[in-house]
Amino acid sequence: MALAESDFRFISDLVRDESAIVLEAGKEYLVESRLLPVAQQDGFSSIADMIKKLRETGTMVLKLKVVDALTTNETSFFRDIKPFEMLAKELLPELIAARKKSRKLEIWCAAASTGQEIYSICMTILENFPELKSWDVRVLGTDICQEVLDKCEKGVYSQIEVNRGLPVSMLIKYFDKDGTDWRVKDTLRSMAKFRKLNLIRPWGDVGNPDIVFIRNVLIYFDVEVKKEILGRIKGVMKPDGFLFLGAAETTLNLDGDFVRRAYERGGCYQLKSDGE
Ligand SMILES: C[S@@+](CC[C@H](N)C(=O)[O-])C[C@H]1O[C@@H](n2cnc3c(N)ncnc32)[C@H](O)[C@@H]1O
Repeated sequence: MALAESDFRFISDLVRDESAIVLEAGKEYLVESRLLPVAQQDGFSSIADMIKKLRETGTMVLKLKVVDALTTNETSFFRDIKPFEMLAKELLPELIAARKKSRKLEIWCAAASTGQEIYSICMTILENFPELKSWDVRVLGTDICQEVLDKCEKGVYSQIEVNRGLPVSMLIKYFDKDGTDWRVKDTLRSMAKFRKLNLIRPWGDVGNPDIVFIRNVLIYFDVEVKKEILGRIKGVMKPDGFLFLGAAETTLNLDGDFVRRAYERGGCYQLKSDGE
């Protein structure tokens, strides 16, 4: 049975309130296909029944299940490749020179999804900067969705997942075969910490990152939320730090304090220095 318009509106309001994700009209099919398994798992006879329950006495647990089901967790190893090349060839060498006294580096991956992005960052570090082994390197991965964070923690990926973007040489070097899957080795796993963080709620301690990856998540939010989140990132990142957005995302018309730093077909953002 097709989703009633009022039920679709109820779900899109709930998801916007809890995560800022905007579900525009036309996404009814997505909502139905994502919510059917949740309804079935929780013993409801239909999505409409589950929404009735949510309207009446919906528990936070059920609400969060619905929000989690409507997040899009698409990701892959070394997605778009250029950010990782830019890290290896330009940004990390610069930061290593700038931080040689403190010997500390902080990286925050703010929409980590299932972990491929953060493990790609860690492999970039291990492959190119063995000197960082003796530094205090903190890599934090956060996401709103507990299920994806559990996968980050486990670090187990299917053959199909590793086939997407991970060079065979790195697969052999940093992963162990685990049945038909691949498990990240401890050297890699131990570099990153993960925790739940909703970008539209208080963040708690995210440190003062030198590098922020927040790729392919602002795209789901409306302009005001994007502006607010970029403003809060400015408040935590180091003044000479770097910000990576997704290939289809930009700070342009959202926050004039960031300037683009180009790298081949890619690039990242930096805060304007005084007088710029
Ligand atoms: C499409 S994935 C992007 C993954 C990775 N950054 C990449 O580019 O490959 C978007 C992620 O943002 C997360 N997300 C959505 N809304 C969020 C919010 N309000 N706070 C934190 N994470 C959120 C989703 O759970 C999902 O894992």
